[in-house]
Amino acid sequence: MKQLKTILLGIALVGLIGCSSDDDGGVIPPPPPPTDQAPTISLTAPSGGAAVMPGGTVTITWTASDDNQVVGVDLSYTHDDGATDTPIASDLTGTSFDWMVPSEALYGVVIKGVATDDAGQTGEDTTEDIFAVVAFSERGYVMTETCADCHPNAADDERLRDGHQYKLNKVVDGTPPTYPNSVVPNPPAGSTWDDVTYVIGGYGWKARFIGTDGYIITAGGNNQWNLATEEWVDYHKDELKPYDCGPCHMTGWQTLAENGGVNQDGLVGIEGTWEEPGVRCEECHGPGVDHVSTQSATEITLDLTSEACGTCHQRGGLTVQPEASGGFIRHHEQYNEWLMSAHADNDVDCGSCHDAHIGVSYGNPGIIAECEDCHGTPSNAHLVPIADCETCHLAQATKSATKENEFVGDVKTHIFTINPGAVGKDAMFFTDAGTGKTRTNAFVTLDFVCYQCHTDPLTGEGGGSSEQTLAELSARATGIHGG
Ligand code: HEC
Ligand code: HEC
Ligand code: HEC
Ligand code: HEC
Ligand code: HEC
Ligand code: HEC
Ligand code: HEC
Ligand code: HEC
Repeated sequence: MKQLKTILLGIALVGLIGCSSDDDGGVIPPPPPPTDQAPTISLTAPSGGAAVMPGGTVTITWTASDDNQVVGVDLSYTHDDGATDTPIASDLTGTSFDWMVPSEALYGVVIKGVATDDAGQTGEDTTEDIFAVVAFSERGYVMTETCADCHPNAADDERLRDGHQYKLNKVVDGTPPTYPNSVVPNPPAGSTWDDVTYVIGGYGWKARFIGTDGYIITAGGNNQWNLATEEWVDYHKDELKPYDCGPCHMTGWQTLAENGGVNQDGLVGIEGTWEEPGVRCEECHGPGVDHVSTQSATEITLDLTSEACGTCHQRGGLTVQPEASGGFIRHHEQYNEWLMSAHADNDVDCGSCHDAHIGVSYGNPGIIAECEDCHGTPSNAHLVPIADCETCHLAQATKSATKENEFVGDVKTHIFTINPGAVGKDAMFFTDAGTGKTRTNAFVTLDFVCYQCHTDPLTGEGGGSSEQTLAELSARATGIHGG
């Protein structure tokens, strides 16, 4: 039945068309004269929001149509949500145009195409995905100054108040690098600044120096400058020490194996290359070109885990207990220390206490949660409330450059838990049978905590306050908060 109906309808239609095309004298009125339609245009490229280098070329393509004739297409762009409209080219007759973009950075670029027909009517279209004109490296890094164009606050925090960026500092034309809070006054003995290509560190604890061959300067000793004591000490005296420290110090470090055997600046002692010296935005957030182009949160890495900090603030991997040597915990092991603490078991991460962009040295306000915010203020049975939580619980049982005495190093320990027993630091360290390395137990002993101020009657070492034996300290320390 259905089929039959269709056939009948078909015949009826043929009849109608036949009648009208016959033009047989007005049985059916003629159609009105065609109204002139405005042209349509559809921009087909660029799409997908890919970045373009300043001065580079973008191929813009489109399709345009009109019931009569498109006579020309005008292209323009905006990079400020339409506030300004800058011409690219006009009266184009083809379907594509190679646009040589400006030579300065532009973000949020949208291209507009306007088609005009023979009657002077216009139709327009804009590209759907924004893109950026921005300089980027082969691996997609755009560098700190580009991030700072849109994130001035994060950049200012980092630039003014954080040691990460000062990890490696270039010596330009024999002029030493400058730091916001510290000074590296001289190159090592026997060198001038012209013999130094880079200063390693110099912000917080110590400085080491890279020579014109890319190796760390070790000849003759006295090659490490300790900031706290303003003294030169030996670092691997007379050894050949390549600079292979990049994974923890640099942004976008690649080893020789990864980069095909390229040495940074052509210096053979530097066993790799970097995108930007120091720990900068894209070391933590990943290469940023796609994010800059699309301004999308999903195109940038935001890693809130302790492991992200632990890629550098560790030694020997993320599972081992901290190494010790010379009676102190070794430095850059905050992750290994933290991992042994109750904080790790309770998701109190680096970022729970630290602002990732602001350091803690020189009074910088990088701590975003105080101990008391979570623990309240436990009663303190210590005679004088002179010591705050951090003084005791982040005792300087770790050493980077120097020690004040046998019980005070120069880096704050992140084990947090204090052993109130009458035992000294020997109880804190043990030899790891597997590796033969000296490692650290999951507590800090009272000598590290209390001899910051008190004095050890056995050795005379300590901070000068009253002499207290370990037994006396233990008696006072046990249940010190009244628990
Ligand atoms: C052209 C402007 C622009 C530039 C340049 C830029 N960003 Fe962004 N960024 C944004 C915008 C806009 C957002 C907010 C996106 C959203 O919330 O949808 C953002 C968000 C972020 C976020 C938060 C992501 C999240 O998951 O919430 C991070 C991290 C970030 N940017 C890092 C960077 C870094 C690193 C650089 C340099 C490599 C950079 N940005 C360069 C515009 C920019
Ligand atoms: C040491 C690693 C590290 C470095 C270096 C770093 N960031 Fe972040 N950034 C983080 C972490 C972790 C977070 C999330 C926690 C937070 O907001 O403190 C974050 C958050 C952000 C956010 C989103 C929240 C906010 O603060 O607005 C932006 C935007 C951002 N970073 C941009 C930057 C820029 C720009 C730089 C360089 C000037 C930079 N970051 C350098 C680790 C880092
Ligand atoms: C596993 C990561 C890692 C490696 C590898 C590493 N470092 Fe570091 N380094 C750090 C961290 C993290 C700090 C800061 C925290 C600390 O010392 O506890 C630091 C601090 C320093 C400082 C002091 C910076 C200052 O401003 O005072 C110097 C100097 C230094 N390192 C030199 C080197 C040299 C030279 C090498 C290679 C031979 C090297 N480091 C290898 C992670 C590392
Ligand atoms: C790519 C390696 C790297 C990563 C990732 C990293 N750090 Fe660092 N950090 C360093 C180095 C190297 C130093 C020493 C910088 C110096 O003194 O020149 C340092 C120093 C610091 C300092 C002391 C400097 C100051 O200004 O007070 C703090 C605090 C710190 N890091 C916290 C963090 C936190 C929190 C994270 C995770 C959000 C993190 N770091 C991620 C390598 C790293
Ligand atoms: C974001 C919340 C938070 C902050 C900030 C914080 N803690 Fe904790 N802390 C905890 C939690 C949760 C635990 C595990 C549960 C418990 O023992 O209370 C813990 C455990 C501890 C322990 C081990 C307790 C035990 O029984 O072994 C010590 C010691 C400690 N914290 C000291 C500190 C100190 C010192 C600070 C400041 C530097 C601090 N905490 C900051 C949440 C926090
Ligand atoms: C004079 C050094 C000292 C100061 C200051 C100090 N503590 Fe303690 N704290 C200790 C010692 C020692 C223990 C171990 C007591 C024990 O195990 O019997 C301890 C234990 C703790 C514990 C484990 C649970 C408990 O009550 O035994 C927490 C949590 C803690 N302290 C938090 C804090 C906070 C928060 C502050 C600052 C308001 C602080 N402490 C200040 C020495 C100190
Ligand atoms: C419970 C809070 C808390 C946690 C968790 C925490 N820190 Fe800290 N951290 C502190 C405090 C408090 C200081 C000392 C601040 C000061 O000197 O004013 C500090 C200091 C530091 C320093 C500088 C040490 C020095 O001697 O100058 C580094 C580096 C650091 N933290 C890295 C880390 C890393 C990496 C993690 C995660 C593995 C972490 N922290 C986890 C509270 C914390
Ligand atoms: C920041 C410095 C500082 C730290 C850290 C410190 N003390 Fe004290 N302590 C003092 C001062 C100052 C006095 C009073 C004068 C004196 O005895 O020299 C004192 C007094 C004492 C006394 C004698 C008075 C009394 O209450 O009986 C004992 C015992 C004592 N502290 C135990 C400890 C123990 C245990 C620790 C470590 C858990 C410790 N102190 C950590 C500064 C400190």
